[in-house]
Amino acid sequence: MASTKKTASTPGKKVASKPAKSAEGSGKKAAAKSAARTTSTGPAQVLGADDALARHAAGVQALSAGMPYNETKALEHGRDNAVAPPAGQTVEPADPSITGSTLSESNDGGKTGGAAPAGACPVTGALDRVRVDNAGQALTTNQGVLVADNQNSLKAGLRGPTLLEDFILREKITHFDHERIPERIVHARGSAAHGYFENYKPLTQYTRAAPFQEAGKITPVFVRFSTVAGERGSTDTARDVRGFAVKFYTDEGNWDLVGNNMPVFFIQDAMKFPDLVHAVKPEPHHGMPQAASAHDTFWDFASLMPEITHMLMWAMSDRAIPRSYRMMQGFGVHTFRLVNEAGESVFCKFHWNPKEGTHSLVWDEAVKISGADSDFHRRDLWEAIEAGAYPEWELGLQIFTEEQAEAFSFDILDPTKIVPEELVPVTPVGRMVLNRNPDNFFAETEQVAFCTAHVVPGIDFSNDPLLAGRIHSYVDTQISRLGGPNFHEIPINSPLAPVHNNQRDGMHRQAVARGRVAYEPNSLGGGCPFQAGTRGFVSFPEPMKEDKLRGKPEKFADHYTQARLFYESQAPFEKRHIVAGFRFELSKVTVPAIRERMVSGLRNVSDELARAVAEGLGMALPQPMPRALENPAKPEVTKSPTLSLTARPGAGGIRTRKIAIMIAPGVDGAAIESLQQALVEEGAVPLLVAARIGPVETAGGGTLDAQASLENSPAVLFDALALPPGDTVTDELADEGQALEFIRNIYRHGKTILALGAAQALLDEAGIPLLLPDGDPDPGLVFGGDADATPALGAFVKAVAMHRHPQRETDPPRV
Ligand code: HEM
Repeated sequence: MASTKKTASTPGKKVASKPAKSAEGSGKKAAAKSAARTTSTGPAQVLGADDALARHAAGVQALSAGMPYNETKALEHGRDNAVAPPAGQTVEPADPSITGSTLSESNDGGKTGGAAPAGACPVTGALDRVRVDNAGQALTTNQGVLVADNQNSLKAGLRGPTLLEDFILREKITHFDHERIPERIVHARGSAAHGYFENYKPLTQYTRAAPFQEAGKITPVFVRFSTVAGERGSTDTARDVRGFAVKFYTDEGNWDLVGNNMPVFFIQDAMKFPDLVHAVKPEPHHGMPQAASAHDTFWDFASLMPEITHMLMWAMSDRAIPRSYRMMQGFGVHTFRLVNEAGESVFCKFHWNPKEGTHSLVWDEAVKISGADSDFHRRDLWEAIEAGAYPEWELGLQIFTEEQAEAFSFDILDPTKIVPEELVPVTPVGRMVLNRNPDNFFAETEQVAFCTAHVVPGIDFSNDPLLAGRIHSYVDTQISRLGGPNFHEIPINSPLAPVHNNQRDGMHRQAVARGRVAYEPNSLGGGCPFQAGTRGFVSFPEPMKEDKLRGKPEKFADHYTQARLFYESQAPFEKRHIVAGFRFELSKVTVPAIRERMVSGLRNVSDELARAVAEGLGMALPQPMPRALENPAKPEVTKSPTLSLTARPGAGGIRTRKIAIMIAPGVDGAAIESLQQALVEEGAVPLLVAARIGPVETAGGGTLDAQASLENSPAVLFDALALPPGDTVTDELADEGQALEFIRNIYRHGKTILALGAAQALLDEAGIPLLLPDGDPDPGLVFGGDADATPALGAFVKAVAMHRHPQRETDPPRV
């Protein structure tokens, strides 16, 4: 009978075979005799000849005999062994050549190199092993042949036909023909950067995951941000969820935390993901619209799937139009498990909080940015890192037990629910800094393959049915996107931890596996690679006794309580933006029945919301939609202030904020230079904007260099505006339609304006109201004297640091 007792394995058991001597000693006669025998199909027994093959055969026999039976077979059974599997049995060969593929492996060659060092895996590790630098190098073909002429194809005569023989032309064109790979089925548009995660203090009480074991532990990361619906070349500022995927290259393998910038999702079960994506992507008959949910099929689906309602609150809010990738939160969304060394588990939700605060665009601005710079977020991330203003987030964990989870009014396996911070606070555990742009967009950002299945010991899954589908989906899609099963060897995907397994062959295999063993158990490879036992990943043994069925738990039927929680936790201006979001999207829907159905669902969230949306669409308020669950459990909280962006201003200051300083001929050069200098000292990025780029004459006869023009850099690309002092420059700008439009857009989008001296007249010219709609002074309009901007500068910096001044807003806008 099989034993279920946990016993120690016998790694590293020595073989008592004689170490093999060098092949050099074999004479001609012995070599001939060896050649007459086969090395692997013949019997592995000593034939008496003292040659290399015979010694090899003896070594193989001794190695295999060192494992007279499979000692760990009996330990494959029973619960104890399942939760603490034994390490595999292994025997050390007397000589490394005994497990090799060929005795000739020590014959060094220019291409082969020598024998592999023991236990080596050079296809993993840092990227410098594959980084190419062409400095000082001549052009070659892919075969390394120097190319003499890269201008002309090979022809029969100068005016004659091109020859098929031209292998250089054909190689170049053929490679070019295959340069594109399929884009991601979702999240096709994205940007990425390298950096590191730094752990604050050991979390060994909760998890054995490598990044969390010591204070100060640094783990390299690669992070990709993305939109979901748009194609690879689509605009960055579409209304959409943003992907926030982090690959941790840990000491114990890669861990991917593949999250979003919203903590909930549209659906509850992976079965609905293809339906969701088919509904939101461009409609199949005409391929429109691009990167937008504002169309019939999305809202048809949404209005028939009430579990989407909570996510719609987020998606219609300002969260769906972030100011920057650097200024958005990230969430793991699902409940995960942490597992410690003792095999104990707690539940966990992951949160990334940006140091610069969580900030958004406004919709009118996002639409205009799409025209002015559809790479707005990509450029912002790239430029911040190039400038050394490294984006930073703090990782926070919500940790809770099974008992706590059972008591919640909602189900923690439902990805349309959050765990309010009032119930379980977010504990900061470390920080992530992105400090290096990729060298090559395709090789790194495009080829990176994130996957929720990539977990390391200490991180485990919950039974969230959406997560389960994801665990399957990512690798599956990557097999076709990245051309076969070996994409884990692409340098950006390969771990820093070595890879040793018996997976072999397939398209584009890089690793050259040594030896003849590609199975386990084996004795011919000394048992290697052997299973790691409890050093390796052991799934948390969650007890279960359930019927096999398709269905959802009852609490999943509460579709509205947390949607209401989100809506009611918003500031008044945020609520107005949600109304405007629904109004815009639903106004693009062409089928009135869909609008009606959607608004009837909103009545279950808030009558105030439903009424405002209905009014905006010029329709009567429909009856509330019948609910799937008439009497949901009473929620623990009905407001959660941290859900409002007003609770997330970040570290303050104006670091990396782009400030337009508008200039025109006759400007006071010294005043502008000192303003520019003062803003640079605050960490901002001030740019001189004029009618045209290039030199602009100053009042003193000198010149200032305008880096941007009113035409190529409209207001939406800036966070704030400074208007220079002086009558001449004011007159010049007042005659410039684009300057006035610039001022109006800055104002309409709630941004700060500094008007120095005479420049106040420009505000009048642009029709800017100096007071807020309620008659109070506008904190975003800062005035300074003609001579010296310094006194006003402090107020300007403070006002820019507030990000925006939504008190100014009216619907429709006054300006
Ligand atoms: C059953 C539900 C889901 C399925 C089947 C699914 C599937 C996919 C697929 C096939 C990709 C493309 C991967 C690639 O080509 O490399 C992808 C990308 C992505 N998904 Fe999901 N997804 C689901 C839900 C979610 C959820 C809930 C989140 C957020 C928590 C999420 C976040 C992401 C991100 C961030 C990416 C982009 C990764 C990158 O930057 O390369 N997905 N998803």
